[in-house]
Amino acid sequence: MTVATAERSTLATRNGAHADGAKPTPVIDVRGITKVYKMGDIEVHALRGVDLQIYPGELVAIMGPSGSGKSTLMNILGCLDQPTSGKYRLDGVDVEKLNDNQLAEIRNKKIGFVFQSFNLLRRTSAIDNVEQPLIYAGVPPRERRERARAALEAVGLGSRLKHHPSELSGGQQQRVAIARALVTNPAIILADEPTGNLDSRAGAEVMCIFQRLNSEQGITVIFVTHDPRIAQHTRRIIRIADGQIVGDEPVEEQLIACHGEPLKY
Ligand SMILES: Nc1ncnc2c1ncn2[C@@H]1O[C@H](COP(=O)(O)OP(=O)(O)O)[C@@H](O)[C@H]1O
Ligand SMILES: [Mg+2]
Repeated sequence: MTVATAERSTLATRNGAHADGAKPTPVIDVRGITKVYKMGDIEVHALRGVDLQIYPGELVAIMGPSGSGKSTLMNILGCLDQPTSGKYRLDGVDVEKLNDNQLAEIRNKKIGFVFQSFNLLRRTSAIDNVEQPLIYAGVPPRERRERARAALEAVGLGSRLKHHPSELSGGQQQRVAIARALVTNPAIILADEPTGNLDSRAGAEVMCIFQRLNSEQGITVIFVTHDPRIAQHTRRIIRIADGQIVGDEPVEEQLIACHGEPLKY
């Protein structure tokens, strides 16, 4: 199934140039970013001048060979790491000017990060895992509980609140991780190979959640994948090779992962 043409053109208006010709402000604006890892005498040039603008409400896949710099870029976009040079403006804030505390704060406020290996606390229930970012944010216990439960319900895990990661399938664990990313109401979700450890059915469930968050809540979603079919669920595919962007194309025939109710764009 594909999004109807009329719907797609509405999206193009929302995410691309405005109908009146005014240019929207990118939520992610990266200019000339480089990243050099120094290992003893050896320098690894992981990013070699990346320019990238992502607009509010976009759904984007990043593809590229292993070692091409995708994770390095995602970590910088997610304020988990700083570039060696270049400019990064996140929702109007110049990230390179921030100290570690300010970086942590902006990360907590604006970004939800999802990892390939879920990164859940193993001895902790699903709901306690999802509450973690709210503890850092200083949210009171009762509200934490309610928001964590709502986030787990939003990813279809309302009946698994007390389960520990070892009692959940890989797909369910990744949905807990998405709930944890969601619970702070981020403007952006960044996911580094979120379906890399999942079978195709669980991968499609993750895509359905991302498409819903994007279409119904306007959350900007950017994820890395090696799988062309997974990438086809977005509206834009960015290709990286050898630390540089080598392709940036719209998706012509978007796949829709959610069955049942149509997406509300
Ligand atoms: N912490 C690090 N220290 C040194 N080199 C690194 C580090 N992280 C990544 N690299 C190197 O940077 C390059 C890009 O890595 P990465 O961003 O992980 O690529 P990808 O996610 O596309 O596989 C690779 O050559 C990798 O070996
Ligand atoms: Mg990687």
